[in-house]
Amino acid sequence: MNKSVQQKAAHVTTRRLLDMKQNGEKISMLTAYDYTIARILDRAGVDVLLVGDSASNVFAGHSTTLPITIEEMIYHAKAVVRGVHDESGRAMVVIDMPFMSYQLSSEEALRNAGKIMKEHECDAVKLEGGRVIADTVKRITDVGIPVMGHLGLMPQSIYKYGSYRVRAQEEKEAEQLLEDVVILEKAGAFAIVLEKIPSALAAEATRSLTIPTIGIGAGVACDGQVLVINDILGLNREFHPRFVRRYADLNTLIEQAARQYVQDVRTRDFPSADESY
Ligand code: KIV
Repeated sequence: MNKSVQQKAAHVTTRRLLDMKQNGEKISMLTAYDYTIARILDRAGVDVLLVGDSASNVFAGHSTTLPITIEEMIYHAKAVVRGVHDESGRAMVVIDMPFMSYQLSSEEALRNAGKIMKEHECDAVKLEGGRVIADTVKRITDVGIPVMGHLGLMPQSIYKYGSYRVRAQEEKEAEQLLEDVVILEKAGAFAIVLEKIPSALAAEATRSLTIPTIGIGAGVACDGQVLVINDILGLNREFHPRFVRRYADLNTLIEQAARQYVQDVRTRDFPSADESY
């Protein structure tokens, strides 16, 4: 955490999130990928900004989160951290560790988590997985790097699942998830994202933990909620799953603005004398 950030505002810390859970205050989290949006979201009072590997989809246009590299994540993360630092400095910034940056070995995971923390001055990293990555989570948290977990639908495993349907609807997978949240908490995770699982299961997982759960398509009982910023702004016309609430229709607004601009240029309406030197 940057010193100027500490002085500027009550920066959201892992301790603060724990207190929020204990006090029954809900945690708000949104993804951010660039400086300008990060400033706006920090100003709006969003508690946690996630530099999600969903940047691979919504920023770079890939069909999955797998292609994004650690260097690309570092680029996005630096911009987001700069945005928060230049605004109130309140929001916690969490960076997704991209596919294959932490799966090979705990050593490599630690090296990459360290690289991310050093280069960004961010607050924490997020990893997908349960028992399989428990030793890695422990290794990373043991050296002082906070880890956010991610269970349920894990987009980095999309080729294993074969679809983005709701996870853990069958008893076996639900039981496994309930075990995994506890394993992650014991390994040192400070919060866990629960993606696209039945609300009742998310509620049970939330009750079983001291650390907060942050849901996406996991119902209201989670300790917090996260959504992808592009989705809540309505930037993508085609993608509107049930768990997304659209707060704006920027797709239409941007298209209208661009059409007007094109017309104004063509008709020589722009630039006017006032807009010229
Ligand atoms: O990458 C991402 O945007 C995420 C959220 C969906 C939680 O992991």
